[in-house]
Amino acid sequence: MKPYGNFKKGIMNIGEAPGEEEDAAGKPWQGKTGKLLQRTYRKLGIDLFEDCININACHCRPTDARGDNRAPTNEEIENCRRTTLRYIHQYNPKLVVLLGNSAVTSVIGSRWKKELGGISKWRGWQIPDQDLNTWICPTYHPSFVERSDSADVDSIWIRDLREAFSLLEKPFLKHKEPYVEYPPDLRVLDRIKDGVISFDYETTGKKPHARGHKIVVASVADSPDHCYVFHSPKTPLEWKPFIRLLSDPKVGKIAQNMKFEHMWTQSKLRVEVQNWVWDTMIAAHILDNRYGVTGLKFLVYVHFGIVDYDSEIAPYLRSNNEKDSNAINRIYELLQMPGGSEKLMYYCALDSIYEYRLAMLQQSEILLPF
Ligand code: URA
Repeated sequence: MKPYGNFKKGIMNIGEAPGEEEDAAGKPWQGKTGKLLQRTYRKLGIDLFEDCININACHCRPTDARGDNRAPTNEEIENCRRTTLRYIHQYNPKLVVLLGNSAVTSVIGSRWKKELGGISKWRGWQIPDQDLNTWICPTYHPSFVERSDSADVDSIWIRDLREAFSLLEKPFLKHKEPYVEYPPDLRVLDRIKDGVISFDYETTGKKPHARGHKIVVASVADSPDHCYVFHSPKTPLEWKPFIRLLSDPKVGKIAQNMKFEHMWTQSKLRVEVQNWVWDTMIAAHILDNRYGVTGLKFLVYVHFGIVDYDSEIAPYLRSNNEKDSNAINRIYELLQMPGGSEKLMYYCALDSIYEYRLAMLQQSEILLPF
């Protein structure tokens, strides 16, 4: 089935697959489910066929042995993916509504290298996808809404769609490259006397206490756009500006899962971090307590549209025995590879930058006046 609709408002909808009625008519959203989608869009001021272009994750109708409709397999979705992505590039929509699991698998699945999870984790985000250059808005498939017959599901679905359509008024959020400095020594940190910083470590493992563990690389962001990143210095004297900064109560501290940075600082630098002001992981959990939505990589994708900035590094930050929380990971292997050190440093730099940006965003959401 070809893309269908007049696309007047620049919205692209991606469903699952054509059913019997759609196949017969050569047009999407013709059956009972399609009528529900048409009605719901109309209530929100959008004409499904005039204002949108409509495609599916699977472009032909999948049938079972008896010739009835069935859901497409992952393989079928993968086979159609190239065409689906080509349509997104060709139409360059202002926003893409992903209706249900198949659409999420199609558009996000190949780029998301971790466990994808289902629609209940993805729905409701408005993702400024930097690869696709458009807002990606996943929500339930109308057939799920119909089957659920639940006022809660209805209202969540309508809220998701209303928020998605509100993006028509909002400019696309383009990622701004941060300025990353690689100082030869840590005295540059003496300049930071107030305000807030985020900081992040790359270490030899999860816990610092067993023999041989080290902080390998650290980064400090002092604004949403600027950070320092450095390898661990060799002597306590060289560490001093960093230790002064972490123990300075006039400088607020941000981290993702601050107990990790706190514990490593305590164990390796023998100092208590002073003035923790924000933990982006706890804040994420307060803002949204669904399963699987508080990890930094997920938050960076849904808020900043950057997918998978860690997959080259991630295997080296895992040990060969993930059950042993004292195990040494593979970070030294990475450092021995050509370009490995630079990759690790840049990755660490991005972590503290994204933590800073996330903290700002979360504060604006949490501290809104009631
Ligand atoms: N269901 C879908 O997912 N897509 C259609 O086009 C029709 C029904």
